[in-house]
Amino acid sequence: MTDDPARRARDPATLTEDEAAAELEALAAEIAHHDALYHGRDAPEITDAEYDALVLRNRAIEACFPALVRDDSPSRRVGGTVAEGFAKSRHGEPMLSLDNVFSAEEFAEFCARIRRFLGLAAEEPLAFVAEPKIDGLSINLLYEDGAFVKGATRGDGTEGEDVTQNLLTIPDLPRRLHPPFPASIEIRGEVFMDKADFLAFRATQEQAAEAREARRARGEKLGDAIVVPANPRNAAAGSVRQLDARITASRPLKLFAYAMGRASEAPADTHHAFLKRLEAWGFAVNPLSELLGSEAEAASFQARIGEQRAALGYDIDGVVYKLDRLDWQKRLGFVGRAPRWATAWKFPAEQATTVLLDIEIQVGRTGALTPRAVMQPVTVGGVTVRHATLHNEDEIARKDVRIGDTVILQRAGDVIPQIVGVVPEKRPAGAVPFAFPTTCPACGSHAIRDGEDVVRRCTGGLVCPAQAVERLRHFASRRAMDIEGLGEENVQLLFDRGLVRSPADIFRLHARRDALRALEGWGERKVAKLLDAIEARRHAPLERFIFGLGIRRIGEQNAKLLARHYHSLEEWRAKMIAARIVGSEAREELGSIQGIGPAIAEELVEAFAEPRMLAALDELAAGAPPLPAEAPAAADSPFAGRTLVFTGTLETLTRDEAEAQAERLGAKVTKSVSKKTDFVVVGADAGSKAAKAAELGVRVLSEAEFREMAGL
Ligand code: IVH
Repeated sequence: MTDDPARRARDPATLTEDEAAAELEALAAEIAHHDALYHGRDAPEITDAEYDALVLRNRAIEACFPALVRDDSPSRRVGGTVAEGFAKSRHGEPMLSLDNVFSAEEFAEFCARIRRFLGLAAEEPLAFVAEPKIDGLSINLLYEDGAFVKGATRGDGTEGEDVTQNLLTIPDLPRRLHPPFPASIEIRGEVFMDKADFLAFRATQEQAAEAREARRARGEKLGDAIVVPANPRNAAAGSVRQLDARITASRPLKLFAYAMGRASEAPADTHHAFLKRLEAWGFAVNPLSELLGSEAEAASFQARIGEQRAALGYDIDGVVYKLDRLDWQKRLGFVGRAPRWATAWKFPAEQATTVLLDIEIQVGRTGALTPRAVMQPVTVGGVTVRHATLHNEDEIARKDVRIGDTVILQRAGDVIPQIVGVVPEKRPAGAVPFAFPTTCPACGSHAIRDGEDVVRRCTGGLVCPAQAVERLRHFASRRAMDIEGLGEENVQLLFDRGLVRSPADIFRLHARRDALRALEGWGERKVAKLLDAIEARRHAPLERFIFGLGIRRIGEQNAKLLARHYHSLEEWRAKMIAARIVGSEAREELGSIQGIGPAIAEELVEAFAEPRMLAALDELAAGAPPLPAEAPAAADSPFAGRTLVFTGTLETLTRDEAEAQAERLGAKVTKSVSKKTDFVVVGADAGSKAAKAAELGVRVLSEAEFREMAGL
């Protein structure tokens, strides 16, 4: 089937999943066949170009169908295993960095130094190769006998991380060099992401991150954190440093080669000739790279590339100028960590000035108050800009940005524009320092900063409309009040229809039966089911109730500590209000609870100082009073006062149940194993935690042993 040229030529994105799977299977077999012939030093049946086409086809399909990447995929086969953390890899020659220049004068000074060092006459022209400087991730590729054997990141310059498996997924990377080639050579280059690919990738990451947030609100399992990269450089670096090469394979990475490290023999006399060799071996070399006959041509090259910059498919931050003659490079050598024979002439950041019309304060879903500059529209680097981030309160104060000021805007690559400073001479008379609000613009509650935090946050929580949906979701979520049927979508719907604006509203929904039934797709059964689920949770355990309030820093663990300590809502509420007075008995008591530090105490006291929060709490408690916490566990249990960790899959108990049982017996359940852990209960497929327990000599219990000791 893969021999059908029409099929192979088809755009992989148009394949069905079945077709893609079938073709990947056939390609894996076919490439393995040719690899065996090649490595067995038999006469290969196909040319290198045909071989590369197969590999490229395989990668192109994998990029479209990352879930279909096979365990025996040619893109994963070298070494045969998936990385479990990266091995260190020492470079044959150190990978250095470049010094920068920012002007024609500085470039002239760089050239003068070269002349002085080499003792050259002023008339002797210095030929340079100019290469656009892409801001990506530099890598070192080792080829032995023409075959790619190892690839590493730059690391500290001497030693990087072995990312061979991941680099193998990059279509631009030649697995074999076209002959002739030195017996051994290190090739250096830059892995990067195109601007358009980056934007598309960032959009998918943003969606994934939102979906993850929604899962969090529902109390579901989260899996790995989703990184939304700020710029193409971070996207490329993050993609190469994935532990699972299948993820790297799904990222649109490109590679340009531009330098070499250790080589068994010199492949050329000049850098320009070396670039030609790179191309002949099969590497992509930036097509804008150019040989300049003398240093006098650098300024015009710089200007030309500068003009093209915005229209290029990828971000560049300057041009690298490398002395063309390799014998001169060798004589010049290095100073510190940079060569004397090359420099990066950086572009000035794209800047513009405009007038700051206003500073808006946005309230995020977590209550963070973020200032945003509203400006007279201005074009920076080909893009019209109206808004810029001002980051936070301190940033505004530090730069003394005032409304009415003329501000200097800067755009670096594709990232969000920033205000770098003001033009003081243009400040209008009467402009006053910006007073950052201390109340939330969305709900009027106090907005506070805690200790070292640069962010000011609304304390309104439940009553703040900017945070309301998020808070409601949290309140209803599985780990909090656990109201079935009140997931993300329904919370949003009920909020939008004005049916639920606060947690107390949830417990009044039974009076809105008709309004619920009027919702599209909501029949009697669905309504009844939801109302039943709400009724079932009207009297929730105090700890769930406290956790559900969504007070900052009061996670499940702290909610439990509070519930156990204060037992009833009434007691907790009264003591929290009394604890406002520093030095009071109630404050001392709060501070004495094992596990509640001063920052948490502060947060609690602040929350209770908010009249609107208190009103919402009382309203909620009136309709849905929580159950008092159970009396502390029997002190004679083997688990009383001990710290337990559960790991792996339990067979007879759910994790929640097992944890609850352990806690009932007075144990503290934590997530990670440390010297303080007393027992680790190990289920099936236990991973690193069991190993850690063994290492630390912590007592390990099987599920059966746990049950027995717990008397279950
Ligand atoms: S040559 C000894 N050439 O810039 C010279 N570097 O600031 C080593 N870079 O780590 C580098 N494009 O990540 C060289 N055409 C180019 C480059 C380039 C981008 C990056 C590379 C390096 C950094 C040095």
